[in-house]
Amino acid sequence: MNIKEIREQFPLIKNKNIIYLDNAATTQKPQCVIDAIAEFYSNFNANPMRGIYDLSIAATDAYEYAREKTASFINAHNPSEIIFTKNATESLNLAADILSAVLNIGDEILVATSEHHSNFLPWKKLCEKCGIVIRFLDCDSEGNNSLEALKDALTHKTKIFTVAYVSNVIGRINPIKEFARICHENNTYICVDATQSVAHMKTDVIEDDVDFLAFSAHKMYGPMGVGVLYAKKDLLEKLPPFLEGGEMIDYVSKDKTIYAELPHKYEAGTVSAADAYAFGKAIDYINKIGFDEISKRERELTDYLFEGIKQVKNVQIVGDRDAVNHNCIVTFTVDDVHPHDVASIFAESGICIRAGHHCAQPLHILLGVPSTVRASVAFYNTHEEIDAFLKVLSEIRARMGY
Ligand SMILES: Cc1ncc(COP(=O)(O)O)c(C=O)c1O
Repeated sequence: MNIKEIREQFPLIKNKNIIYLDNAATTQKPQCVIDAIAEFYSNFNANPMRGIYDLSIAATDAYEYAREKTASFINAHNPSEIIFTKNATESLNLAADILSAVLNIGDEILVATSEHHSNFLPWKKLCEKCGIVIRFLDCDSEGNNSLEALKDALTHKTKIFTVAYVSNVIGRINPIKEFARICHENNTYICVDATQSVAHMKTDVIEDDVDFLAFSAHKMYGPMGVGVLYAKKDLLEKLPPFLEGGEMIDYVSKDKTIYAELPHKYEAGTVSAADAYAFGKAIDYINKIGFDEISKRERELTDYLFEGIKQVKNVQIVGDRDAVNHNCIVTFTVDDVHPHDVASIFAESGICIRAGHHCAQPLHILLGVPSTVRASVAFYNTHEEIDAFLKVLSEIRARMGY
């Protein structure tokens, strides 16, 4: 991987004098993705799926081509299993909403405590609305959600289990394939929040056999404004739509509605076609580099970051003590210094990192830390950037007068 060349492709990294280590929040965008948005509006702009004139057909093709690329990127059987939304949050709300159709009083939903609020609150609301019991799968102090714990937590009443592929706080990879097997043996649907994994490792929904999978384009070098919900076709076919309106019907009369075929049933209203088109370019970009290269580079950077942080006195890493259980994310606290002060000192030095509860308060409560500091890498980061980060980290307590 030629890092110099790669960094040249990201205008913000090339032109701004900053060190960007907040990739878990959103990644920077390569020029080809930025250009694609202008390309769509310059060449294909018409309302997709609505017109029968050439321009509308070109807009539809651009949009549907992005869907095909997305399906093949996660190895879905069929593009119609890909629903475009506006972000992972909307995808997870959509999953919760449509799954309300399979719930009966007495059922339970199991949520991993390590989840981002986006994969907790929609299920909490659903349980409150439908009178369903919500239960939690607690991880251990190192952030591990074990197979045994899942087996113990599932009961014959558990209809849905929802969990992230990778935690956005501790960066730990969950054993999704095994989780799916255990869930299916129990007749439980599994919904996976892949928001923190899709940019960093190969996703294969067939191999993992997950029922639902959600993610955002903007955390994988794509634009903001596009999310994905994957679900198995037979499930989507039998579940009801979330939003009602234009483009999601075949026929409407005063007393009858026939919904459109998949995936349009779930995409009411005018879609974010330009963003989806640019997302397709982000997928091309990732595919061109390839996950072998990406994973190798990001493993190296994460190890370097993790081992460096470990050497700094009075800094406590959250989660596992082994770098291998941190995937692009290392979260920590600095003794006696509030995470927001830590982040401010980094900001003064031109280093972008994140402080707070990272939208995962139940996990912070479980781990007994109100808030933390998170550094997260992508393949375009460098060892020199991490050195600069570690230098500031080692000075923080002194700068705060300790
Ligand atoms: C694990 C996880 N799930 C869901 C989300 C929500 O993503 P979005 O804000 O793009 O909807 C995030 C965002 O940080 C996340 O890290």
